[in-house]
Amino acid sequence: MEEDRFYEASKSMKRKTPPVCDYHGSDYQTSFWEKGGRDYEDQAEAIALRRLLPARGDLLLEVGAGAGRNTPRYKGYQHVVLLDYSLTQLQQAQERLGRSDRYTYVAADVYQLPFINALFDGATMIRTLHHMADAPAALREIRRVMRSQGTFILEYANKLNLKAIGRYLIGRQDWSPFTPEPVEFVELNFDFHPQTVRRWLGEEGFQLERQLTVSHFRIGLLKRLVPTKILVFLDSLAQHTGNWWQLTPSVFTRSKAVGDATEEGHLAAKRAGADGFFRCPACGSAQVEEGEASLTCTACSSVWPIQDGIYDFRKG
Ligand SMILES: C[S@@+](CC[C@H](N)C(=O)[O-])C[C@H]1O[C@@H](n2cnc3c(N)ncnc32)[C@H](O)[C@@H]1O
Repeated sequence: MEEDRFYEASKSMKRKTPPVCDYHGSDYQTSFWEKGGRDYEDQAEAIALRRLLPARGDLLLEVGAGAGRNTPRYKGYQHVVLLDYSLTQLQQAQERLGRSDRYTYVAADVYQLPFINALFDGATMIRTLHHMADAPAALREIRRVMRSQGTFILEYANKLNLKAIGRYLIGRQDWSPFTPEPVEFVELNFDFHPQTVRRWLGEEGFQLERQLTVSHFRIGLLKRLVPTKILVFLDSLAQHTGNWWQLTPSVFTRSKAVGDATEEGHLAAKRAGADGFFRCPACGSAQVEEGEASLTCTACSSVWPIQDGIYDFRKG
């Protein structure tokens, strides 16, 4: 029975998930972006996103949405689900974007996404993979909730950047930027090798379509001396070299979800009478009933609070 296979696959969810880099109570948006002198990076990222995102889409999952810095850039999508582990980041996002019908706010762990299979036709993950101790597992889970042919925009922190290469060559850095394994330079902060990220994408059901290198001029002195708009313009030109070489601290990729293995689970969930959106992250059942203040899983009786318009799937 297909239904049995669906629940069978879900049992693996009981596994222990990797640690989460906790942003609870963090003022990241204000201290890092608004007061941190990062207009250049923000604008360069906006250009990369504009170049990679499809003009239109139905349902977009923003993984690690934080305080919603990028969310207004997803205008072409009818509905955006902002997902983040941190409730306080989502509260900040809600303050910024409001409780419009266009947005759903979900507190959950990327390793156990609370959605049925093959739900989204788009997903983004910006400045978030670098917190993943098990990046392939996170990519696998994102692929599970994506429809075949959907678009996935992934940004990752690149260990093979010019600054790291220079520091390594003059002996001021002990880890090699040339080797394929991730480097954890601060606890739960990882830089990745481009070849490794490309391999993972392929292994987890994504077909890489385009790469843009971003933040070529992330150097304090340059940012102080050269007007931001000139740096942004130069970066926008240099981004196009991203398919040929990747030597910047940040790389944006666009991939297509390929293969249709997860569609089966989606159909099984539909046949089993699920409403076709959330699934219980504790047991994997799509039989979840929404009340005023909580969602209840009728299969395992887990109760998931809904607090001030934010669905909270973090603890059973
Ligand atoms: C550096 S912030 C980036 C926020 C936003 N994407 C941006 O670019 O402004 C990383 C975000 O990832 C979230 N995060 C880290 N680990 C996570 C996990 N396991 N599941 C879901 N979100 C996670 C953090 O809570 C944080 O809000």
